[in-house]
Amino acid sequence: MSLIVLCAGGHARVVIEALLSRGIRPTAVTDRDPARIGEAVGGIPITGPDEDILKMDANAVELANGLGNQASRSDSGLAGRRALFGRFAGLGYRFPVISHLSAVIASDAALGDGAQVMAGAVIQPAAWIGRNVLVNTRAVVEHDCLVGDHAHIAPGAILCGGVSVGEGAHIGAGAVVLGGVSVGAGSIVAAGAVVARNVEAGAFAGGGRD
Ligand SMILES: CC(C)(COP(=O)(O)OP(=O)(O)OC[C@H]1O[C@@H](n2cnc3c(N)ncnc32)[C@H](O)[C@@H]1OP(=O)(O)O)[C@@H](O)C(=O)NCCC(=O)NCCS
Repeated sequence: MSLIVLCAGGHARVVIEALLSRGIRPTAVTDRDPARIGEAVGGIPITGPDEDILKMDANAVELANGLGNQASRSDSGLAGRRALFGRFAGLGYRFPVISHLSAVIASDAALGDGAQVMAGAVIQPAAWIGRNVLVNTRAVVEHDCLVGDHAHIAPGAILCGGVSVGEGAHIGAGAVVLGGVSVGAGSIVAAGAVVARNVEAGAFAGGGRD
């Protein structure tokens, strides 16, 4: 079974590193820019655009989402990552869970298709992580947290026990969400924010000018 990483950006290099830590060497990386064909990303060649995947049997290849995001206060920046996953998952392509060897994942934590757990991240008991969720470098998801599909828990962010993060929300780098707090779907938490109250869906919490 070959494994292909979609989108040759910075996040793709992090994904490749996680795969290599487990002795899994992706076969190829895709990129829509034809000028990049032949370049290598993390030592893996860019072989062509995402469309090339469509020529492959969905049972013969696995995919990894290599697209990251850049949040602003009005946009989580996660739409592209979500669409990429949705497009290929909808066509029957499989996105395995990817976790770096140094990540710690409790035996009863549940991870949905395509969830990614990067280096040094910790996921504690009874945490539930949805599909295409990114738990980034050294993030902590404490016991009994729920993280909805397509959400991003950025590097070093901490979800204390029993936190709920809605679908497609972005929890910024180094933010701390206190125990039992709910962060609504599609909302954006600024890097370094401390979130002590529930955040409404689509809202922005913490950081600079409000
Ligand atoms: C909060 C955030 C979403 C705002 O982004 P933005 O809308 O593009 O805002 P800007 O960068 O233009 O900053 C606007 C102001 O807020 C300040 N600011 C930005 N982010 C801030 C933060 N996290 N905490 C405190 N102040 C912040 C800026 O300094 C600026 O202040 P100024 O008006 O006094 O100059 C963004 O800075 C952030 O925190 N993103 C998350 C980053 C992250 O987690 N990355 C992980 C990638 S793997």
